Amino acid sequence: MSQSIQDSIALVTGANRGIGKAIVEALLARGAAKVYAGARNPDSLADLVAASGGKVVPLQLDVTDQGQVDAAASAASDATIVVNNAGVALHGDMFDNSLKGPEREFAVNYWGVLRMTRAFAPQLKTRGSGTIANVSSIAGLTNFPMFPTYSDSKAAVHSLTQGTRHLLTGTGVKVLGVYPGPVDTDLAKDIEFTKETPANVANTILDAIESGAEEVFTDEMARDYAPAYEAGHKALELGTREMLAQEQA
Ligand SMILES: NC(=O)c1ccc[n+]([C@@H]2O[C@H](COP(=O)([O-])OP(=O)(O)OC[C@H]3O[C@@H](n4cnc5c(N)ncnc54)[C@H](OP(=O)(O)O)[C@@H]3O)[C@@H](O)[C@H]2O)c1
Repeated sequence: MSQSIQDSIALVTGANRGIGKAIVEALLARGAAKVYAGARNPDSLADLVAASGGKVVPLQLDVTDQGQVDAAASAASDATIVVNNAGVALHGDMFDNSLKGPEREFAVNYWGVLRMTRAFAPQLKTRGSGTIANVSSIAGLTNFPMFPTYSDSKAAVHSLTQGTRHLLTGTGVKVLGVYPGPVDTDLAKDIEFTKETPANVANTILDAIESGAEEVFTDEMARDYAPAYEAGHKALELGTREMLAQEQA
């Protein structure tokens, strides 16, 4: 089952910069009819909106704010592609005395995706089609000790993605897990690795949405993780799916 980007209506969180902005631009380049661009400060979307010929609809959307998430689900009830991209990496010392950094990482990266999923999944399910794409990270598959609590939050996104996929199996709604390695954005500015461009990552994500894939590894470093993922995490997920299907039969 595949989903065409041409003439589609999409919503992207964290759309004002980095990977999110690149996804909006890539959606437009592939002929999306309308893109709801979520940002905490809609003024930061001005250039995207101005360049889009009316196709980008700005939405005030802080994913930690339940009222704004509910308002977005209502305003964008015609969206068939929902990209949960917004994220933060606060790179704190795991052993310091404050939980502020990890709590913020979980509030945005995990609870934000859960809020969005709860708001949008029912309407996609009713339509019987669409894609929810959740941006996790290869750091969600194995903990990177330079950002341990960020990795924890991305592991939670990975698990949430699997759970959402299990629950939406058979509804026509696809759930895509996105696993980038280092990408050249503000979030990764202090990381020394070779970084992929946001534009290439965005196009790889859209290819995956169009092909109906269940996960995508968006760059060279991430693709090195794919074989171990397929043999490990994915094999366990598919085994669980089969076991549940047999129990329900
Ligand atoms: N860059 C990498 O190497 C890398 C690797 C793996 C995964 N990722 C993931 O890719 C996604 C995009 O990150 P990026 O690299 O593009 O980082 P970025 O350039 O720092 O962009 C982060 C985006 O998230 C938004 N955001 C932060 N808190 C938010 C909130 N509470 N509600 C709504 N939006 C919020 C930011 O908006 P403001 O401008 O308002 O702050 C910004 O638009 C994240 O989920 C990140 O974890 C990135």
